[in-house]
Amino acid sequence: KNTQYTMCWLDYKRCEDENYINKVLPFISNIYIVENNYYIRNAALELKEGLRSVFGIDPIIQTNSYPDFKQGTVIGKLGNDVMERFISKTERDKVADEGFLIKSVTNDSKSIIVLAAKSESGIIYGVFELINRLRLKSDLSSLNIIENPKAALRIINHWDNMDGSIERGYAGDSIFFSNGRIKKSLKRIKDYARLLASTGINGIVINNVNVRGKAVWLITPKFLPQLSEIAEIFRLYGIKLYLSINFASPIYIGGLSTADPLDPGVIRWWQDTVKMIYTYIPDFGGFLVKADSEFNPGPYVYGRSHADGANMLAKALLPYGGIVIWRAFVYNCLQDWRDTKTDRAKAAYDNFKPLDGKFLDNVVLQIKYGPMDFQVREPVSPLFGGMEKTNQMIEFQITQEYTGQQIHLCYLGTLWKEILEFDTYCKGEGSYVKRIVDGSLFGRKYCGFAGVSNIGNSINWTGHDLAQANLWTFGRLAWDPDRSVEDIAKEWILLTFGDDKKVLENILWMLLNSHRIYEKYTTPLGLGWMVNPGHHYGPNPEGYEYSKWGTYHRADTKAIGVDRTSKGTGYTLQYHSHWQEIFDDMEKCPEELLLFFHRVPYTHRLKSGKTLIQFMYDSHFEGADEVDVLIQKWEELKGKIDENIFNRVSERLKMQKEHAIEWRDVINTYFYRKTGIPDEKGRVIYP
Ligand code: GCU
Repeated sequence: KNTQYTMCWLDYKRCEDENYINKVLPFISNIYIVENNYYIRNAALELKEGLRSVFGIDPIIQTNSYPDFKQGTVIGKLGNDVMERFISKTERDKVADEGFLIKSVTNDSKSIIVLAAKSESGIIYGVFELINRLRLKSDLSSLNIIENPKAALRIINHWDNMDGSIERGYAGDSIFFSNGRIKKSLKRIKDYARLLASTGINGIVINNVNVRGKAVWLITPKFLPQLSEIAEIFRLYGIKLYLSINFASPIYIGGLSTADPLDPGVIRWWQDTVKMIYTYIPDFGGFLVKADSEFNPGPYVYGRSHADGANMLAKALLPYGGIVIWRAFVYNCLQDWRDTKTDRAKAAYDNFKPLDGKFLDNVVLQIKYGPMDFQVREPVSPLFGGMEKTNQMIEFQITQEYTGQQIHLCYLGTLWKEILEFDTYCKGEGSYVKRIVDGSLFGRKYCGFAGVSNIGNSINWTGHDLAQANLWTFGRLAWDPDRSVEDIAKEWILLTFGDDKKVLENILWMLLNSHRIYEKYTTPLGLGWMVNPGHHYGPNPEGYEYSKWGTYHRADTKAIGVDRTSKGTGYTLQYHSHWQEIFDDMEKCPEELLLFFHRVPYTHRLKSGKTLIQFMYDSHFEGADEVDVLIQKWEELKGKIDENIFNRVSERLKMQKEHAIEWRDVINTYFYRKTGIPDEKGRVIYP
C-alpha cells in the first residue's frame, strides 16, 4: 500500500454490507471487454482494482469472448455487435462523444451490467461512475444511466515551474518538474490522472502560463520524448496534454529576430514546431497563451492584434486538430495610482470585445470569472455576455491564492455555482454563463472550463484535506454545470469519508458556509484586495493602494470604493442594459458587490438599516466568530474520521482562527482610524 500520499476520494474502503454485496456480486464477478483495445483494457483493470478493494473479489477480465448471456459486466464501444444486442437505437443516439451509458439487464435471470461509450474516454469516465455507484451502494438492478459532459473543454491549468516550484501553489512542489527537468517517475502522475478522470476532466496544461527559462524549451525535442510519455499516461484516462508557450519562442528558441505573428519566417517556424510536436504527441491538445500580460511578450509588441497572434498559432495547429487557448487577462499593470481614468476592471472587455468574430474556429478565449483577479467576490466578467462570435472558456482558480491559500477552509463550489447561474441577458432572459461556456447558447464547438490546479506533492495533494473538495467540484461542475453544488459536495463527502450521518452533516455545513465566512472576515461587499503584496496572504488594507497594479479602493476619511457606474469609470456600460441599470443604482446593486461598483460614504445606510461602517465592524466580528463554529463542527467528528486527516484539518482550522482574528483586527482598526466612528456595540477594536 502506498504511503507517500492518500488517494482522496478514490481511497476505496471495503464494503461491509453483506446484503448489498450479495445483491451485486452476480453483476460484477466477471468483466468482459468485447474488443482487444489497450485503453479499454486499462479501464477494465481500473474496474477490477476497484472491485478488489471494495468487495474483495478478483474478477477475471475476458477479452474478445462474450459468450451469450453470461453474467457480469460487459464493456465496449457503441457499434460493436455484442454491445448492440443490449442497446436500442434511441439509447445509442443519446450518447455523445465523451459520454457513456451504464445499465443493468436481466436476461434469463442472469445479471448483466452494460457499460458502453462512443470513445475510450467515455468508457473510462463510465468505469469511475460505476465504481462510485457501487461505493455509494446504488441499486444495480435498476441502473440506467446515460451521461454526457455538457462542455467540450474541461481543462486543468498547472502553474508549475520547471524548478519544481508552483506559482500560487500551497500544497508542496510540482509532481511534474524538479530541478529544471521533467520527473522520471510517472507513478504519481498516473494517480493524478485517475483522480482527474474520475471527475470528468479531459485536458491538462502542465506548465505555468508565465513561460520562462527552461520551460520555453518544452516544445522542443529536448523535452518532447518525456512529454510524450506523460501524454500517454493521461491518454489512458481520457485527458489530453496541452502546453503553455512563450509568444516570443521564435526568438528564444528559433534565433529569429522577431516574433511578429505576420512575419513569414515566424509563421513557418511555428508550423515546423507544431508539426514536430505532433510526431511525439499525436493527440496533442494545443497551446495556452498568456500574451501581453504582466510582462509576457505578445502581438502588441509588434503592433499586431490578439486575433493576429492567436490565429497565426491556430492555423499551425489546425491540420492536426489542435486548438489555441488565448487568455483574456490583459491589462495595464503599470497604472499610476493618481490616474483615476484607467479602470483595470474594464481592461479585458476593452481589449477583446472589438475582436469578436475575428478569431478562427479553433481559438478559445479563456476568461477569468471576474474582471479583476480571483477575488473572494467579483461580478461576472462582462465578456461572457459580450462576445457572441467567439469560443469562450471560464477560468476559475481552484488554488486558493486570494481565498486563504489552503490554510483557511474556503469551499469554492458555492461561488462558482453563483457565477455559472448568472444571467447575462445577452440573448434575452435565460442567457446564463453556464450556457455560454458549455457552448450551447451560441452553438459553439470549443467552449468550457479551465481551473488553476490546487495540487502539489504534499501527502494529501491539496495541503488542506478539505480543499480536495474544490478539485472534485471543479471537475463535476465542468462536466455538468446544472448540478446542484450541495449534491456534488455531498457525493464528495460520502466517497471520501464514508456514510456516517454526522460526518456528512457537519462537513457539508462546513463546506457550504465556508466561503461566506471567509468573505465576512476579509473583504466583504465586493471590496477585494487589501492583501499583503507579493504573496497575497493576510490583511494589508493599503498594500496595493499606491503601487502600479490598478487595484485601488481609494478610501479616505469619508468614503470608500470606486465609482464604476456609467457616470464613473463607465465599467457598467460593458454589461447588457438589464444589469447596467441594476449595477448603476446604489439601491438596486446587489449588496455583496456594492463597493465594487460604487463609492460609498461610511455613513450610508444599507438595506438592513446599518451604516456601511457598522456593517464592516459587524461582518468582521461575526466572520471571525463563525470560524469557531467550523472548529466545533470538526471537533464533533473526532473518532469518526481517519486520525491523520482529523489532526491535519484541526491544525489548519486553528491557524485559520488566528489569521481570521488578524484580519478582523487589522481591517476594523483601519476603518476606525480612517473614520473615527466607533463601533455601536462598543467592542474592542485592536489596538
Ligand atoms: C495573478 C497571479 C499571478 C498569475 C496571474 C495570471 O495575478 O497573482 O501569479 O501569473 O494571475 O493569471 O496570469
